[in-house]
Amino acid sequence: MRILGIESSCDETAAAVVEDGRTALSNAVASQIDEQRLYGGVVPEIASRRHCENICGVVDEALSGAGLGLEDIDAIAVTYAPGLIGALLVGVSYAKGLSAASGKPLVPVHHIAGHMAANYITHPGLTPPYLCLVISGGHTHLVEVRDYSSWRVVGRTRDDAVGECYDKVARTLGFPYPGGKYLDEAAKRGKSSLYTLPHPRVEGSDLDFSFSGLKTAVINLIHNLKQRGEEPDVNAVAASFQKTVADILSEKLMLAAGELGYTKIALAGGVAANSGVRRRIKKECDKRGYQLFMPELCYCGDNGVMIAAQGYYDFLAGRRAGGELNALATLSLEDICDETTHP
Ligand code: KG4
Ligand code: ZN
Repeated sequence: MRILGIESSCDETAAAVVEDGRTALSNAVASQIDEQRLYGGVVPEIASRRHCENICGVVDEALSGAGLGLEDIDAIAVTYAPGLIGALLVGVSYAKGLSAASGKPLVPVHHIAGHMAANYITHPGLTPPYLCLVISGGHTHLVEVRDYSSWRVVGRTRDDAVGECYDKVARTLGFPYPGGKYLDEAAKRGKSSLYTLPHPRVEGSDLDFSFSGLKTAVINLIHNLKQRGEEPDVNAVAASFQKTVADILSEKLMLAAGELGYTKIALAGGVAANSGVRRRIKKECDKRGYQLFMPELCYCGDNGVMIAAQGYYDFLAGRRAGGELNALATLSLEDICDETTHP
């Protein structure tokens, strides 16, 4: 079965064709990063306009890249939540039009479920249940993947997402947007012991995260050094920050795995491309004999392949939508069934 996946929740217009949820036949992406960088972040209105301009070409490229026509596609999957509302609406409206015109079924996909499904492409042997740490620009979630289309969120950030924190710290250090990957590179050259950063405490659930305190601590560290006339050692700040993030993420992930009895662990989302986080979590999993699944670097950030992969499993689970489908800026993973099968 071949699914066309369409993604437009933030600043990438993306589409891809995936066979049986596991094999990517194409992967087309039009990124707005170069333009959004001028503003130091994503301007929602600009994002929507660029999606409008790019979506036809990107979907055509996904089909031609797979050597297929629309008639060879079994269903159209689209990200409908969560994300920037104006950006999501472009993909949703386009997919609804394509579905109405072609008679192909429309499958609404949750963006976070899509990120997790990137692992099905990289790891053909991965099957639920497993525990997944989703770390992206907008989300930090610990998710029990009970089945392909059934999830329980067991931990989440109380404030900033880890990617957001990476981007703010990177900006303060003078790196371009989005700064996560520049900070990652700088961290490889720095000494993490030069600066000490706090591990924020979270009252209540020990599986929840908090990153705003860490973000403020790094920004204050940089400003205080500058006020004293000292230039911060950029590589060392990056290395200390990266080590602290890797400590926090691996601690919570291992705690959740132990408490909930999971030995199959996965990572997902843009920050899953981070070299320090990957290395640290691999080490902790190896120590305990856990299996670790991480998406290839090219499938960590937003893409259409992950939406088509999850779309396949959501299609098998009976998820469908019609002309009534709306985009939603926020929607919990656990609420998806109610929203899509009982609109
Ligand atoms: O998953 P994603 O593409 O978008 C959302 O759904 O939010 O994640 C984007 C985030 C950005 O914050 C970006 O800086 C971060 O992923 N990122 C990284 C790395 N590559 C991308 N953060 C740390 N290290 C990296 N190597
Ligand atoms: Zn994303």
